[in-house]
Amino acid sequence: MKKLAILIILIFIGIQFVPMDVPADVPTKAVNSIEAPENVQAILDRSCFDCHSNHTIYPWYSNIAPVSWFTKHHVEEGRKHMNFSTWASYEDEKKLKFLQKIPKAIQSKMPLSSYLIMHQDAKLSDADKEAIKIWATEAAFDLE
Ligand code: HEC
Repeated sequence: MKKLAILIILIFIGIQFVPMDVPADVPTKAVNSIEAPENVQAILDRSCFDCHSNHTIYPWYSNIAPVSWFTKHHVEEGRKHMNFSTWASYEDEKKLKFLQKIPKAIQSKMPLSSYLIMHQDAKLSDADKEAIKIWATEAAFDLE
């Protein structure tokens, strides 16, 4: 048992040397360039911005492997797919595509369940989901 514990500790220390810096803040004019009612903005800010904006709020443990590996991947991928900080620069067609995807995404996999383990407050209530859906539907309708 003692050997196993020592082995686990050594592995834990060892993996800290695998370089894996989490993505840094990208200076952008706005943290959020999306136009939405205040209540919707607040929900997106709380539940989506850590991965879908240029301004991620990292908890202290996010630089510790193996958490840093997941964090890096989630933030890089999240920003690459859809970034609310650069939303205003998207073509209407792209905005429309995201607005149509958002209601489905929050029903199935967003925010990612692995993220919610440590970010309970980011969990969407039924009322949150409803507010996002109404906004996304109306905003898509305005673009069409
Ligand atoms: C822990 C990080 C994380 C959080 C928090 C998060 N997302 Fe994501 N999101 C991702 C990743 C990674 C992808 C790309 C891979 C995938 O689709 O699973 C993604 C993809 C998406 C897509 C699909 C985009 C496309 O190009 O098809 C939508 C829509 C989306 N997220 C909406 C949301 C919304 C709305 C929230 C907040 C309620 C949210 N996400 C919160 C990480 C996150």
